Amino acid sequence: MKKIYIETYGCQMNEYDSEIVKTVLKKSNYELIDSLDDADVVLLNTCSVRDNANRKVYGRIHRIKHQRNGRGMKIGVLGCMATNFRKKLLENPSLPIDFIAGPDSYKRLPELIEGLDNEGKDHFDVTLSEFETYADVYPTSREKGVNAWIAVMRGCNNFCTFCVVPYTRGRERSRAPENVKEEVEWLASEGFRQVTLLGQNVNSYNYEGRDFAYLLEMVSRVDGIERIRFTAPHPKDFPRRLLQVIAAHPKVCNQVHLPLQAGNDRILDMMNRTYTQKEYLLLVDEIREINPEMVLTTDIIVGFPTETDAEFGDTVRMMEEVEFDSAFIFKYSERPQTVAARKFPDDVPEAEKTERIVRLNEIQREHSLKRNRAHIGEVHEVLIDEENTKKSDEHFKGRNDGNKIVIFSKGNYRQGQFVDVKISDATPNVLRGEVERVLEK
Ligand code: 5AD
Ligand code: SF4
Repeated sequence: MKKIYIETYGCQMNEYDSEIVKTVLKKSNYELIDSLDDADVVLLNTCSVRDNANRKVYGRIHRIKHQRNGRGMKIGVLGCMATNFRKKLLENPSLPIDFIAGPDSYKRLPELIEGLDNEGKDHFDVTLSEFETYADVYPTSREKGVNAWIAVMRGCNNFCTFCVVPYTRGRERSRAPENVKEEVEWLASEGFRQVTLLGQNVNSYNYEGRDFAYLLEMVSRVDGIERIRFTAPHPKDFPRRLLQVIAAHPKVCNQVHLPLQAGNDRILDMMNRTYTQKEYLLLVDEIREINPEMVLTTDIIVGFPTETDAEFGDTVRMMEEVEFDSAFIFKYSERPQTVAARKFPDDVPEAEKTERIVRLNEIQREHSLKRNRAHIGEVHEVLIDEENTKKSDEHFKGRNDGNKIVIFSKGNYRQGQFVDVKISDATPNVLRGEVERVLEK
């Protein structure tokens, strides 16, 4: 029985995919192990979204190469780098890669692994499918915890000009709502309390005319699952009905991740985001009108090609206007194949990108602190996810409905339970408080 060790890089979709890979391999009688030391095969499930993600993997491959010297250990590259850098990976003699498999080829992994021993290099399958959704593979080896990720759609048709995803993950396709519901029912029976529905762009979820709001309603009828989250919607044509479903269903959490990317209309147009600053702000107003408590988070890219200081200033103004609860801020990273890489020079100097990212992070820290401090005195329903924190064994950690981290003293309760916590303190990253009561859920 071959022993397989898998490492995952990148987004939650990749985490989910690694569970699919493990399930496929277990079915084919491979043994999955937790350490590289005894592995016969090492799989790296990789990310391509920014260059630093790539570099991390190249570095890792070189380190594994030294470790495996003299042993027959094979290395396989999976995920987005597999599709994006197929040629580079296989033709670079300093990279000891034995096989590669793109995100739609995981059912073929046993073949790719077995082919190795006979023929050596050049084993790859990076074909992107219009249909593969792995609807027939329910991951059976998920890490135990309170939240389970579940991909409800794969691929992306938006072609934002900076983004490699449409090239590495192919065209959009959605899983049948019944199939998603069945997996969620199974997750409930396994003890999970929360599911997070994943898609590159969930508001284009569509299965034979049934949309994402329909899917959310269906999933919210599953007993045992108490919280439903999803990520990520696109700000263009955000359906009002989706907002109503979030507001109407207590299990659907009051949190929307709404990637802004940039605050200037010329840059948004160059990014092919298909909304303007004004349209984004109207959507935020609409969301807050339906629920003033909605937690809003975002992604922002600084230093997109040709972005001037004044245009960056528009992003600053948008942040001031919206006051996000939190934000992921990235420096633009040119990705091969993308429209931006082909058409626009990556001409904002690195030092300028650094200055802009530092500035936005400072602003965001202030906003996060302000918005978190506004919760002091409130009582939040918290789902306990860890019976310690990184810093202390005396504290438990959980999340409130808006997905904010809440820290409170250890007590007679456990992971997976809901407690009411009275918030007494806040930092930009966490809320702190004390448990008032344990909830029956
Ligand atoms: N450069 C920098 N950030 C990027 N993202 C996607 N592609 C790039 C890129 N080429 C960011 C976007 C997206 C998040 C997942 O990653 O902000 O929303
Ligand atoms: Fe990339 Fe845009 Fe698709 Fe998101 S919506 S995955 S940023 S192309």
